[in-house]
Amino acid sequence: MKRKVELVVKSVHDIALETIEMTLMNEYVAKTAIPGQFLHLSIDGHTLRRPISIANTDDKNNEITILFKKVGDGTKQLAAHKPGMSIDALGPSGNGFSYDGNSNSVLLVGGGIGIPPLYNLGKTLRNEGINVTAVLGFQSKEYVFYESKFRELGKSYVVTNDGTYGHQGFVTSVMDQIEDFDTYYSCGPIQMLKAVTKLLHDHSGYISLEERMGCGVGACFACVIPTNNNGGYKKICKDGPVFTADEVIL
Ligand code: FES
Repeated sequence: MKRKVELVVKSVHDIALETIEMTLMNEYVAKTAIPGQFLHLSIDGHTLRRPISIANTDDKNNEITILFKKVGDGTKQLAAHKPGMSIDALGPSGNGFSYDGNSNSVLLVGGGIGIPPLYNLGKTLRNEGINVTAVLGFQSKEYVFYESKFRELGKSYVVTNDGTYGHQGFVTSVMDQIEDFDTYYSCGPIQMLKAVTKLLHDHSGYISLEERMGCGVGACFACVIPTNNNGGYKKICKDGPVFTADEVIL
């Protein structure tokens, strides 16, 4: 379910190059959001809202954490918010990650700014006693974030494309070191998701598609993606952003 909410900024930090962690307060979102859902934030002077995944929720303190990259005018403006300021948003939006209850171990595979929603998921599954392994991919050392947080959840591998930190290569480069798991969850750039779904085709998996959104409420068709169901299409903002790995054509 989605509704208009007012988020109050609690803190804003740089946690890696161009990467901002913002903690927001709103009781309704903190208590109802599930992993994989996003907030659709309004930024003054910008017509389009920005979809940003929820990286963590704290229902006791009514806090929500989001991470985003400071790359354009909108996100720079967002990053300039000070504690106490309000942000108008729709959310929590979209369909989050499913968990079938039959998996004892899961693999999380994230790339860059696709990693945050996997933290929220990993924390939730870990609290239910599920074994969590994570593979986190970044461009280079200065972009790495949340490594220690994922290590608290379970075995974690950090990969950088240029080899300046952790293993060199892509997230798929370390897959032969991963012990078996029941289900995987992945979020990141489309090219990464293509490689991951191909490599892990014999496992059940879920992918979150975050790129390409316009209105965010199912009205503009900017986010359609073809499905394996007789040439049909789905809307990422409304039917996703999470899909089963074999449901959509990347
Ligand atoms: Fe407009 Fe999905 S972003 S329909």
